[in-house]
Amino acid sequence: MAPRVLVFYGSYRSDRMGIRLADYVVSGLRARGAEAELIDAKAVGLPMLDRMYKEYARGTVPAPLEALAAKIRDADAFVFVTGEYNWGVQPGLKNLTDHFLEEWFWRPAAIVSYSAGRIAGARAALHWHGTLSEMGMIVISSTLAVGPIAEALSAEGKPVGEAGHLLDRAFPRFADDLFWWAEAAKTQRARRAPPY
Ligand SMILES: Cc1cc2nc3c(=O)[nH]c(=O)nc-3n(C[C@H](O)[C@H](O)[C@H](O)COP(=O)(O)O)c2cc1C
Repeated sequence: MAPRVLVFYGSYRSDRMGIRLADYVVSGLRARGAEAELIDAKAVGLPMLDRMYKEYARGTVPAPLEALAAKIRDADAFVFVTGEYNWGVQPGLKNLTDHFLEEWFWRPAAIVSYSAGRIAGARAALHWHGTLSEMGMIVISSTLAVGPIAEALSAEGKPVGEAGHLLDRAFPRFADDLFWWAEAAKTQRARRAPPY
């Protein structure tokens, strides 16, 4: 069965660039047979964290939070598309992610980073690795790092130039690695219920 993959992206900037990469990842996963959906933190529009999802009493959970929790629980794998702000993560995506905990458990996550320069968001990717592990995800070793993003993807999210070519070349292995872990984790969840 096609893996269900949620692709998270979280820049709130009016002139954001990373949406090109998020769109590219969603299209690429779909082309390889996944059911992929973009979760754009700006569109979801959660407020700054007050209560986590699990801290709301039943029936009082805000609708966007309830809908997103259901999608996360239903997913087989996650991709986090991350830019880098001052060597750190983008606050909008981190804020969305922190609303959940158990919902993430026992599923693989992949990190796709980018930036305006050649560092390609590598320092933010490093932060995300620890964060996603702490939240119970299996962080896969395959990553994509895209920079400068403006030289790799057009405004429509199409690969351009040498940087775009390199991205296209790296994508299949990245996706196959994620799908392998998605299937492995799903099989194990079905074989034996997670201990908590
Ligand atoms: C507040 C801020 C801090 C930034 N810090 C970094 C940085 O530490 N490293 C880097 O490579 N680029 C940095 N940049 C440039 C971003 O890589 C570039 O603006 C990128 O397009 C941001 O992603 P977005 O357009 O999806 O918001 C920064 C940009 C902003 C707005």
